[in-house]
Amino acid sequence: MRAIYRFSSLLALLCLAHWVSCKVVRFELDLTYEDREIAGFVRKAILSNGQLPGPTLRVKQGDDVEFVVSNLMPFATTVHFHGVMQQGTSWSDGTPGLSQQPIDSGDTFVYRWTAVDYGSSVKKPFKLITEDAAKLAAMIKAEVNTKPLMLSDWRFLTSEVIWQAEIDSGCESICSNAILFNGRGSAWYLPQERIHSLTMPGQRFALGNHTLTDTGCFPPLDSFFGPFPRDPSVLPTGFDEGCIPSHGPTEIIEVNPYSRYISRDVISMTGSATLVFSIDEHPMYVYAIDGRYVEPILVEAVIVPAGSRYSVLVELKQDGFAGKYTIGAANIGLNQIINGTAVLSYTARETKNALLFRISRKLPSQTVNQTFILNIDHDHASYRWKLGDSSFPVDYEGLQPALFNTSSIPFPHRVSTYNNTWVDIIFNLTEGRQPPHPMHKQSNKYFVIGYGNQPFTYSSVAEAMEVVPENFNFEHPQLRDTFSTPVAAGPLGTWLAIRYFVINPGPFLLHCHLQMHQSGGMALAVMDGVDAWPVVPEEYQLPVGPSPANTSPEQ
Ligand SMILES: *[C@@H]1O[C@H](CO)[C@@H](O)[C@H](O)[C@H]1NC(C)=O
Ligand SMILES: *[C@@H]1O[C@H](CO)[C@@H](O)[C@H](O)[C@H]1NC(C)=O
Ligand SMILES: *[C@@H]1O[C@H](CO)[C@@H](O)[C@H](O)[C@H]1NC(C)=O
Ligand SMILES: *[C@@H]1O[C@H](CO)[C@@H](O)[C@H](O)[C@H]1NC(C)=O
Ligand SMILES: *[C@@H]1O[C@H](CO)[C@@H](O)[C@H](O)[C@H]1NC(C)=O
Ligand SMILES: *[C@@H]1O[C@H](CO)[C@@H](O)[C@H](O)[C@H]1NC(C)=O
Repeated sequence: MRAIYRFSSLLALLCLAHWVSCKVVRFELDLTYEDREIAGFVRKAILSNGQLPGPTLRVKQGDDVEFVVSNLMPFATTVHFHGVMQQGTSWSDGTPGLSQQPIDSGDTFVYRWTAVDYGSSVKKPFKLITEDAAKLAAMIKAEVNTKPLMLSDWRFLTSEVIWQAEIDSGCESICSNAILFNGRGSAWYLPQERIHSLTMPGQRFALGNHTLTDTGCFPPLDSFFGPFPRDPSVLPTGFDEGCIPSHGPTEIIEVNPYSRYISRDVISMTGSATLVFSIDEHPMYVYAIDGRYVEPILVEAVIVPAGSRYSVLVELKQDGFAGKYTIGAANIGLNQIINGTAVLSYTARETKNALLFRISRKLPSQTVNQTFILNIDHDHASYRWKLGDSSFPVDYEGLQPALFNTSSIPFPHRVSTYNNTWVDIIFNLTEGRQPPHPMHKQSNKYFVIGYGNQPFTYSSVAEAMEVVPENFNFEHPQLRDTFSTPVAAGPLGTWLAIRYFVINPGPFLLHCHLQMHQSGGMALAVMDGVDAWPVVPEEYQLPVGPSPANTSPEQ
């Protein structure tokens, strides 16, 4: 059953291009579970059409997508389209227990949705970088030719093994074995003295007289794992220590300097790492975040939280015709010292055409109809988490999906909103010593209106605005579908406030995008627009037969 969520997070691979079209685009995806060598180490892995990561699916704005999934794996699954709105098609959102029953082994399921994301027409932000016509044309061309660059933290143990180890030991899995670029990389470990010299002050403080393990991992201590029962002696090798160095291929991005710019959609699908991404000697313009244009900012490096997408434009050196530059991604969390590299290589040629658009910029309402303050905290174990005072059970994947029965998910695991209303969600970390939680809302994007470095002790945003107005931003709020709570390094918690307008009725999951936290229960079903609940088309009705509640997916 764990495989369902594991795969959900792997499907961060969809690239939406922003030019308008309206045709039916059909994709066929065969899912298999096979031995595969990744980072030089063979383990079972979920493959999409034989690949990992899966193929890039390119659709244009306005296209109707028909996505046919054949589950050839020995367990049930669903496919979720991270960041895709599913306007009016909540039955195609692919969340077990919320929008559909798991696709059984041997079965096929057709997801149908329209690529409405990105509004109706959009202006590109590149004029904010330059007015030079030749450079502008090169930037637009780079964007048209953009490609995904997927960052991940690969584990040599499968999620089933890890989940069982968490239950047996009481220790959350906070470390991985390799940082990968588009599925390529190596498991590479530093000598212990080097790990020691790189240990950060925050880590030293929390470690006391202990040291990081041979994989750079924070050992099972109360200062990181909380005061919960633990037995690390039953942990499998490689879980938090026991380095197994192994060599895999290196991702090489070949570029033609004559194209002047390249664009990449840097996508983080990590399970526990928060990665900082950079390219040696190449500052880059971040021009879109979570699929939305932003005013371009020139940066040396960018932090990409799990579940986020940062589109970057890189100016190529005009004198670097044969250069090779290191692309780096390093974890910035206290949980582990680990990094990975790829290569930017000046060699190949890229060719294709360009197009143009317009913009619209909305701001959040000043007033809201509903406020949910959701506390975030451990739930009696280092690997169990609560969102809104409850831990979302993994077994809900097997429930009669909430789309078909709005009371199927019991309180307090669900909250409800009304269509055409403004909603505030405030995440309140009730205790300190928590990593940033990248909070993802399925379906819609939200405005990030405020955050603070203490717990939230107010009853609403309006009340907090009177006391700490400096913690809010209503003029240039980011529009995101994933955003991290501020890190809570000290003994106190922190908070994050988001605001959104409900326009797509249906059941959508709100969850931490760190895989281990989501598995551990940091999730909540948001029943958006219960007053305008969708009518499910005939073809998506559940088959009649034995109670769906009993058909829980196979292991
Ligand atoms: C490490 O510190 C703990 C208390 O923080 C103490 O009980 C223990 O004896 C120390 N161990 C060593 C080897 O110094
Ligand atoms: C990690 O970064 C160091 C430089 O700080 C580099 O030498 C090393 O090759 C990197 N590791 C990997 C696996 O790329
Ligand atoms: C939501 O709030 C707005 C502004 O306060 C108000 O006009 C509207 O009637 C409210 N909607 C509902 C459904 O209560
Ligand atoms: C909906 O789910 C609730 C809770 O499990 C259950 O009591 C109720 O019978 C279900 N309704 C239908 C129509 O199946
Ligand atoms: C947020 O967490 C703090 C610390 O536990 C708590 O005192 C406060 O009541 C919480 N805020 C709300 C609104 O529940
Ligand atoms: C919900 O509200 C949005 C925005 O006004 C509207 O487009 C949509 O049709 C509504 N949905 C339903 C089912 O009424």
